Amino acid sequence: MSELKLGDKAPNFDAETSEGKINFYDYLGESWGILFSHPADYTPVCTTELGTVAKYKDKFAERNVKVMALSVDGVESHKGWINDINETQDTEVNFPIIADEDRKISNLYGMIHPKADDTLTVRSVYVIGPDKTIKLMITYPASTGRNFEELIRVIDSLQLTAYQKVATPANWKQGDDVVISPSVSNEDADKMFPKGYKTVKPYLRMTPQPDKK
Ligand code: BEZ
Repeated sequence: MSELKLGDKAPNFDAETSEGKINFYDYLGESWGILFSHPADYTPVCTTELGTVAKYKDKFAERNVKVMALSVDGVESHKGWINDINETQDTEVNFPIIADEDRKISNLYGMIHPKADDTLTVRSVYVIGPDKTIKLMITYPASTGRNFEELIRVIDSLQLTAYQKVATPANWKQGDDVVISPSVSNEDADKMFPKGYKTVKPYLRMTPQPDKK
């Protein structure tokens, strides 16, 4: 069982994929990355998920995010299933799917949860920063398809908070006010946030999103 935690280096690997042999770090380059597993090919929820990810191509590209999927089925199975996804979801799968038949990468990333299923991967999501460290981990059961709008929202928060001394409050979305990091003194906040800020409590200071007009 993998012990990966936030802030750890995302393990590198070589994989057979629907787009040929790929080295994970080479594939990511300087981009942000999403590595996500699904239980199996030719299953209904996974079909809708991978179709949705394909349709988010522009949203991921705008955010400099590269996506890679994984399941424990083989390359030929992936290729046949991709035809079905393209046909039924009215899209074109535009990212590689790892064929992790020996479960090497699933085990490296802790994507098999034996009490949920002995052999199939659960719906794991890893967001990886350009420094190759793990920024986010989420796990869903097989029965629940993911909300990829939420994933985009989290990536927006991760990218904003990586470069500004702010954090994003509950249900935040692009353009909403943000929270000034507790580590920033009022004196520094006066200089850092020229749009001003509201002190709701000394530990709760709200400011307009700094990188928005
Ligand atoms: C699905 O993708 O629909 C699915 C896969 C495994 C178990 C349950 C549902």
